[in-house]
Amino acid sequence: MKNHDVEDTWHYHNGTKHPNGTLLNRYHTFHAGMRPAPYKIYKNVSKISLSLDKEPIGISALDAISNIYDSKVGMIPDLNILTRILYFSGGITRTIKFPPPMGEFEFRAASCTGALYHIEIYVVCSDIPGLDAGVYHFDPKELKLNILRKGDFRHVLVDATADEEFVKQAPVMLIFTDVFSRNSVKYQAREYRHAFWDCGTIISNTLSIISAHKISSRLISGFVDNTINNLLGLDHTKEASLVILPIGYTEKPIPKSPPIVSINIESIISDSDVDYPEINSMHDASSLCDNTEVKSWRKHFAKSQHNVTDLIPLGTGTLTNDGIEKVILRRGSTRAFSHDSISFEQLSTILKRSTNGIDTDFLAKHDTLNDLYLIVNRVDGLPSGSYHYVKEKDSLQLLRAGDFREISGNLGLGQDLPRDASVTIFIMVNLQKVLGNFGNRGYRIAQLDAAITGGKMYLAAYALNIGATGLTFYDDMVTDFFSPHAKNKETMFLIALGKKVINES
Ligand SMILES: Cc1cc2nc3c(=O)[nH]c(=O)nc-3n(C[C@H](O)[C@H](O)[C@H](O)COP(=O)(O)O)c2cc1C
Repeated sequence: MKNHDVEDTWHYHNGTKHPNGTLLNRYHTFHAGMRPAPYKIYKNVSKISLSLDKEPIGISALDAISNIYDSKVGMIPDLNILTRILYFSGGITRTIKFPPPMGEFEFRAASCTGALYHIEIYVVCSDIPGLDAGVYHFDPKELKLNILRKGDFRHVLVDATADEEFVKQAPVMLIFTDVFSRNSVKYQAREYRHAFWDCGTIISNTLSIISAHKISSRLISGFVDNTINNLLGLDHTKEASLVILPIGYTEKPIPKSPPIVSINIESIISDSDVDYPEINSMHDASSLCDNTEVKSWRKHFAKSQHNVTDLIPLGTGTLTNDGIEKVILRRGSTRAFSHDSISFEQLSTILKRSTNGIDTDFLAKHDTLNDLYLIVNRVDGLPSGSYHYVKEKDSLQLLRAGDFREISGNLGLGQDLPRDASVTIFIMVNLQKVLGNFGNRGYRIAQLDAAITGGKMYLAAYALNIGATGLTFYDDMVTDFFSPHAKNKETMFLIALGKKVINES
């Protein structure tokens, strides 16, 4: 039971800070030719072909990202809806040919650091219309489900989550895993942060599509790690479960599961086999060993600290009704920003719609663990400067007025994107406080919570035809810049918003 010795998290977090993290080798190199195949391939496995219906169901993206459905209002998704959820979360949405050695790249529905696509999605379900009960792996390349187990194994998840109330009622559960070496080949030990960033951006899409279908779901981060990894047949030193997302509602009690025998299906998860022990140590330190530990971990569920302010429609003149499917399909990370401004109404809408919270096992609905800090370079109706977003009051508090464009670029690893953007948003967390409540596993949820907010901002921006990109950052320089307000806060995610340069694809 290592979860409460949070020194492990500080060792990992400080050691993977840019620019001087001692766990990072500054001479490490990566080139496109080293990119591992971004898919898990099962050999000799039975498969089910999925038939995809991309038709919009008529819910605007801005509504889909901000709505949460109540846990008792549910339904049993059929295979058609499940396929849509999987595709709009982790499916291939566009293919771009680059000159050698990069070659053809298949881009996915959600953004991902380095386009390395190290997050895999599994399904554990009861019989649902069109699909028998089983454990499946989603293959986005062939748009198929690989059959790993036949039968209803949901009770394994009920046990692993210590009878979590929502899990007990769900006909379908998604499990998101991380293949460490597929991303660490480029980002070394910092990969374990990316695990939650890139899982979070996918989950923003998943939650949006689920809410568009008016289905309830709850993000579950507390579970016995080994039990879930065994169910999926994972070698947890190479690939590990990150979160569970139960979907839908059924009154039928979940039956006892069949015995778990080992899955004898050969698979290739990555053709990079360099391991980073710091990733395994951080993952082990934040693992929960049995359901007593899960139960006591969940007791720290953070109750709402303040009254929730109802959504106030902002900038109604600029709102679009573009459906969530259309917005996911047109999303892509902006590669060059012009210096043109976005409007204050547009910025307000993005902030408001992407911070309405999520239903989780660690926070009250509508709350988040994170705090938003902004550098406004050019927003019509808002003076340039640094700001803190005060969610309860729906307002931006000016910290310092001034032109911080160059600083914005410097903080974002000296790249042009954060310098040229209209606004950069740093999603920060008081890590000490979160670790105090949740132990090392708090590190997982702090990264994930921030990434889901960042993923929703991507979608909200694209709904308004504004460009966006995730970025990485110089950790301590960001804290220093926003201090004293952000003293004791650590950056978890950075996103830049602005107008794309006209001829950018
Ligand atoms: C958390 C995060 C950090 C990122 N950091 C950078 C970055 O520092 N520089 C950059 O050019 N792109 C960055 N990206 C964008 C990715 O390279 C991009 O998502 C990936 O190539 C897939 O392309 P797409 O988002 O257009 O689908 C980041 C994306 C995410 C999700």
